[in-house]
Amino acid sequence: MHDFAYRKGELHCEETPVSELVKKHGSPLYVYSQSTLEGHFRKLDEALSPLDHLICYAMKANSNLAVMRTLANIGSGFDIVSGGELKRVIAAGGDPKKCTFAGVGKTEEEIAFALRKGIYCFNVESEPELQRIDRVAGRLRKKAPIAVRVNPNVDAGTHAKITTGTYENKFGIPFEEIEGVYQRASKLKNIRLRGVQMHIGSQLTSVTPFEKAVTKAVSLVATLKERHALEFFSIGGGLGIIYNPALASGTAAWWKSPEAKDILTPQSYADRLIPLLKPLAMKIVLEPGRFIAGNAGILVTRVEYVKKTTQKNFVIVDAAMNDLIRPAFYDSFHEIVPLKKKSGKLIESDVVGPICESGDTFCKNRPMPTVKEGDHLAMLSAGAYGSVMSGTYNSRAMAAEVLVQGKRSAVVRARQKVEDIWATETLPKWIS
Ligand code: LLP
Repeated sequence: MHDFAYRKGELHCEETPVSELVKKHGSPLYVYSQSTLEGHFRKLDEALSPLDHLICYAMKANSNLAVMRTLANIGSGFDIVSGGELKRVIAAGGDPKKCTFAGVGKTEEEIAFALRKGIYCFNVESEPELQRIDRVAGRLRKKAPIAVRVNPNVDAGTHAKITTGTYENKFGIPFEEIEGVYQRASKLKNIRLRGVQMHIGSQLTSVTPFEKAVTKAVSLVATLKERHALEFFSIGGGLGIIYNPALASGTAAWWKSPEAKDILTPQSYADRLIPLLKPLAMKIVLEPGRFIAGNAGILVTRVEYVKKTTQKNFVIVDAAMNDLIRPAFYDSFHEIVPLKKKSGKLIESDVVGPICESGDTFCKNRPMPTVKEGDHLAMLSAGAYGSVMSGTYNSRAMAAEVLVQGKRSAVVRARQKVEDIWATETLPKWIS
């Protein structure tokens, strides 16, 4: 569910026509809906209300300060993966005490900084990391709160580049080794064992892999809780969203099928996991990123040319893979719609960017309404892993970002000036 919809044939973000935003701020333009962000957080929060829980929004999905402040204001903590992200939490007015620090490569500086700021927990991914955290904490005369990340070896059935919970992946410590690691960790003087963590992958659209992983983990977690007086169990993020409604809507009969029943919604997720988690009597931590931000953002782009060949209809737009890399990187699907609703026949089109790579393609052979130069299109579900993964390839300045609330809107990241791209570059003395 999201707050982007046609009203009188015009795509709106909440009560604001998107075309007005592009007129004012130019293109390409990221547009976020505040009510969608809040709505997603609240739905999940309410569904989990039978549990003592904390949602730590995985800010890697969208770390714009305004997005983060919106979520911090309604009680969100943050899942961070770098010292830079912790600095952003502080800049956004978030609470470091509600931060979990994940990632396989934490540096000494990052660990020290996080300890000084008093984060909730380090999610530890290896024994060398555990020893490093112990050493740094000793130097600072602090006790470091930690959870070890369990790799449950459950295949999330998602794209290979975003699967994390099998032994093929660099993440976590194999299930069978966990008890030994906690045993050894309990002997480290500067470590406080606080919880257990698990995350199996991203963009999971069915509940079954979560259920499998949690079912596998609960008895281990209960044992560790007893042995080490643990306080929480983090079940990670990974809750998927619907990118392609045509695939998900199906027929009336399909909605009654077992496959449809497995579709992940906050309610189905909660209904199936709460009975497994409740008996643990622990705080349950979640780290969703995409579920909160994904459908809360779109990328608006202008049609520059329509190039017809004997074989193809190319719609060449002013956004490119540097603005939204997901289709090029993961072959991912983003719905693409015109800002002004069009009727008439659909024509199979490739929507492509201006970058000199064939991979700079947003969709291939997709039936689209006929568009012309100067029209605008919106790529939907671009709120997560969109702007944060953008870059300046081809010396293309990064797009502006706008946040909408009802009829109000504000620029929350100015369009980058092209000169800023090389502002930190210098010429060595020997080149005249
Ligand atoms: N926790 C951990 C330990 C993670 O590695 C991730 C995502 C999350 C939480 C949040 O996952 P989410 O709830 O957003 O699925 N760039 C890719 C996604 C990469 C996900 C990386 N880790 C994409 O555009 O699909």
